[in-house]
Amino acid sequence: MSKTMIVGNWKMNTSYSEAMILANAISKHIEKLPGIEVVLCPPSIYLYPVYESLKAKSRNLSLGLQNAMWEDEGAFTGEISVQMAKGIAKYVILGHSERRSVFNESNKQVNEKIKNALKNHFKAIVCVGEREMYDLENNYAFEIKKMEQEGGILYDLKESLSGIAKGESDEILIAYEPVWAIGTGNSASAIYCGALSTIIKDNLQRTMGLTCRVLYGGSVCVKNSREFTMQPSIDGLLIGSQSLNLKNFLKICKNSMEG
Ligand code: PGA
Repeated sequence: MSKTMIVGNWKMNTSYSEAMILANAISKHIEKLPGIEVVLCPPSIYLYPVYESLKAKSRNLSLGLQNAMWEDEGAFTGEISVQMAKGIAKYVILGHSERRSVFNESNKQVNEKIKNALKNHFKAIVCVGEREMYDLENNYAFEIKKMEQEGGILYDLKESLSGIAKGESDEILIAYEPVWAIGTGNSASAIYCGALSTIIKDNLQRTMGLTCRVLYGGSVCVKNSREFTMQPSIDGLLIGSQSLNLKNFLKICKNSMEG
């Protein structure tokens, strides 16, 4: 059985010294929690110094990018590529809802980014999530249809993962993040997220032959994290704001070992 995965998405936060202090403190404590796998995604400008100061420290901690271009190099002002972070980071978050809504990223672009990440031997954390909660309790069949139509989570997954081979299942992690739960303090219920993760896994298996791990993200905090990791279909967490709070992030990691 694979370890519970905890991803910290720092977004566009921390100063240089805050990033170094946070990463080193997390690394020191994570060593004592071998039952989990932690991925820190600092702003890309801090990736190399964080890597240098952590290397050869905790074995269950790796680094990830928050986004990357679909090409390795070229005239793309302001972008960075996974190739530039080779040997430093192992993961890349792609298709985060903030990238999709603020920067208008399309499924097609996310698909090209995933393919380029895999070509460079990175693991892709592919984000999807609905804008409005699905009414699974009262309208199950109808809501599944809605998920498969344009704008639905299964549609986004199908488009984003188009052309990915069965053998690449291990290189892809799905982050199920309902948009209405991100940064709002309104997390979805664990039962609801467990059901959605099962729907995602079944769909990927049935339609593409992919067996991917699924993480939950959206207002995860100390109080609710264990409920999510206790769901059999949820393999880990993608944490935004609480990944910047050392005490809370470590508590969430610890709780996940027990989950
Ligand atoms: P949040 O962010 O934990 O602050 O809701 C999650 C995310 O954006 O991945």
